[in-house]
Amino acid sequence: MNNRAGSPGANKDLGEVIVITSGKGGVGKTTTTASLGAALALRGKRVLVVDADIGLRNLDVILGLENRIVFNVVDVAKKICKPAQAIIKSKRSNNLYLLPASQTDDKDVIDEAEIRFVLEQFRREFHYILVDSPAGIEQGFRNACAGAESAIVVTTPEVSAIRDADRVVGLLSSKGIEARLIINRIDFDMVRRGDMLSVRDVQDILGVEILGVIERDEQIIVAANTGEPVVYNPKSKAGQAFTRIAGRVCGEQIPVPNFGGGSIWSRLTRRLGVAS
Ligand SMILES: Nc1ncnc2c1ncn2[C@@H]1O[C@H](COP(=O)(O)OP(=O)(O)O)[C@@H](O)[C@H]1O
Ligand SMILES: [Mg+2]
Repeated sequence: MNNRAGSPGANKDLGEVIVITSGKGGVGKTTTTASLGAALALRGKRVLVVDADIGLRNLDVILGLENRIVFNVVDVAKKICKPAQAIIKSKRSNNLYLLPASQTDDKDVIDEAEIRFVLEQFRREFHYILVDSPAGIEQGFRNACAGAESAIVVTTPEVSAIRDADRVVGLLSSKGIEARLIINRIDFDMVRRGDMLSVRDVQDILGVEILGVIERDEQIIVAANTGEPVVYNPKSKAGQAFTRIAGRVCGEQIPVPNFGGGSIWSRLTRRLGVAS
C-alpha cells in the first residue's frame, strides 16, 4: 500500500515517488509533471521533478531552466557528480527543483537499479519526487517506474491514447504500482455535442480512479513557451485544475467536477429506448 495521504509519507523521513506516465507520446506527461510539481511547491511541499526521458529531455525547457544545466540524472547514476550538484532550483519557487535528463545518451544507458540509487539520494530531502516518463513501454518506461510508489497515468479522451493507457495501467498493476488517472485536453463543448468521449466514458473504459481532468487550454502553450508553469496564472482553467490535483495528491477530499456529457452507454441505451 502506498502512503499517498502522508507527506513526506508513512515513513516520515521519506518522500513519495510518483511516476507520470502514459504509453502514448504527446498526451501531457511533461506538462503534468511541471504543473503538478509547481502546484505542490506552492502548497509548501518540497518537490523534485525528475526528467527520465533520456535523450529527449524537455522538462528543463518547460520550467525555463535549460540554460542552467551542468550535470544530469545519468551523471548522478554513474557517480560522475554529487547528487546536490545536479539539481537545479526553479526560478519561481524555493521548494521546486529539477533533475534534468541527459540529451546525448540512449535510454538504456541506465538501468532500474541505477534509477533507484538516484532516487534514494533525494528521498530524505523532498516530500514528493515526480518522475516524468518517456513514451512507450520499453526500458525508458521501466526505468521511470523503478522506485515509484504510485503512478499518475495521463491520457487524452481519444481511443488510441486510452488503449495505451489501459496497457500501461495493466503493466503498472503487475509491478504492484497503483495508478490514478488524469484526463488531459478535454473540450467540453465537443463532449456536449457528443463528438468527444466524456470523463465518465473514459472512467468506464479504464476503471481507474480519476485524479483530475484538465481542459484544452491555450495558456498551457503560453506557459510552455515562457517556462512558467500554468499554475502561476490564476485565470487559467488548466492551472486551477492542476492546483486541485495537487490538493488531492496531498490527501484532501476535493471532488472532481462533473463536466457532463453522459456516457456512450447511456446515450446508446437512450437511443435504443431502454432504461440505462
Ligand atoms: N491541456 C492542454 N491544452 C492545450 N495544450 C496542451 C495541454 N496539455 C498539453 N498540451 C500541449 O501538448 C503538447 C504535448 O504535451 P507534453 O506535456 O509535452 O506531452 P508528453 O510529455 O506526454 O509527450 C505540448 O505542446 C503541450 O503544450
Ligand atoms: Mg514528455
